[in-house]
Amino acid sequence: MIGRLNHVGIATPSIEESQALYRDLFGANEITPRTAIPEQGVWVSFVNLPNAQIELIEPYGDASPLHAFLAKTPKGGQHHVCFEVPDILAARDEMRDKGAAVLGTGEPRMGAHGVPVIFLHPKGTGGVLVELMQEPAADH
Ligand code: CO
Repeated sequence: MIGRLNHVGIATPSIEESQALYRDLFGANEITPRTAIPEQGVWVSFVNLPNAQIELIEPYGDASPLHAFLAKTPKGGQHHVCFEVPDILAARDEMRDKGAAVLGTGEPRMGAHGVPVIFLHPKGTGGVLVELMQEPAADH
């Protein structure tokens, strides 16, 4: 059911510092500007790789869900992985049928790529926070 790995989400206390790391240490040359997504409580920036992206995420506002993560790992770290699925609603229903815990109401939310996403609780996915996103039509 899952398709391509779309991105790996990395939480960071400073997107600017993380951008510098990916640019200077790893030589990444395609990094998108730091952009706010207030409805998700995050700033994001994407490091474009040939086969996937690194999604750098930094807390936006006091209610950001990332504050709890960074309280445990203050220097940041791997936060989630994101797989593409052909049909987000069918994927959600299949995940529920198989016993995985869909976060929130289960209604897909608009993700950073402008397509709907859901998140699965790590307790049902081997300890990994998993994001499923509707396949972007233009990429295929
Ligand atoms: Co993500």
